[in-house]
Amino acid sequence: MTSPRSPRFIQCNQADSTADCAQAITALLGTPASASPKHFYDRLGSHLFEAITELPEYYPTRTEAAIFEQHAAQMAQHIGVGATLVDLGAGNCVKAERLFPLLEPRRYIAIDISADFLHEALRRVQREHPQLDTVGLGLDFSASLDLPQGLLGEGAPVFFYPGSSIGNFTPDDALAFLKSVHAKAQGGGLLIGVDLVKPHPVLQAAYDDAIGVTAAFNRNLLRRLNALIGSDFKPAQWDHVGLYNAELSRVEMHLQAKCDITVNWPDGQRAFASGERLHTENSYKYTPAGFSALLQQAGFAKPVQWADEQGWFGVFWAPAG
Ligand code: AVI
Repeated sequence: MTSPRSPRFIQCNQADSTADCAQAITALLGTPASASPKHFYDRLGSHLFEAITELPEYYPTRTEAAIFEQHAAQMAQHIGVGATLVDLGAGNCVKAERLFPLLEPRRYIAIDISADFLHEALRRVQREHPQLDTVGLGLDFSASLDLPQGLLGEGAPVFFYPGSSIGNFTPDDALAFLKSVHAKAQGGGLLIGVDLVKPHPVLQAAYDDAIGVTAAFNRNLLRRLNALIGSDFKPAQWDHVGLYNAELSRVEMHLQAKCDITVNWPDGQRAFASGERLHTENSYKYTPAGFSALLQQAGFAKPVQWADEQGWFGVFWAPAG
């Protein structure tokens, strides 16, 4: 009897590296103060994000899932079977798993910054798909998409980037990131989910929900910063702010000081006046034509697109050529 396969796991960069710490302090000392949204995703943050995706106000996850459900067979016809499926920001791996029956990937590579969370998810994937060649990669790919040599294997590389996480990059960084995916996707392509421009109240509510899950997700970043740089942020002293900036076509999240606060860490401090904000996230919203143009600017061929009836969310298949 053969023993059950276990997923290979490769840790590419440790989350609490010195560079991460220095960058976090520089951003805190900036004007305005900011923090990278990557700090949302420790173990608790990843669970809080999962909870966000269940909220009635947070339409992207269920809208995207419905698009995949309705059009998956057609998508598979464009993509073909036997690919190396590279799941960017895999989280609980559930979105990619739904594609397995149609895409029949030869290898599944799940990449996420939250290595502990990914580890658990991958063990489950491997149990449920014992024949699949499964690899986990703990990697902050927002910094650079450096994949270990030989990792992609024989199949056509199909990158899968659902959930509109591309919206968390500035448009310039999104273009640079898409170019780096394009360089690795030769013979395959990119299947990507993108949140689209829509009525402002819908956007506003999605990032400022009634029961405060998004607020907890936002404040959890302060715990994460405390662990990373040794600061003494007290989450209860900060209000969650989620607002739509129409001019820049993005939802912004901030944490706003409820009173005058001085935050200390071993070699420094930062004073915040009451009402001052710490900018924690941008979530850019695209038009279908705008995102299609961005993909082509990055080197991809003209994409095929699918959307829901209201035109709230888009899924694009962009062959690398
Ligand atoms: C992961 N990312 C696509 C989410 C978004 O909608 O920008 C993160 C998020 N922030 C608040 N709610 C969800």
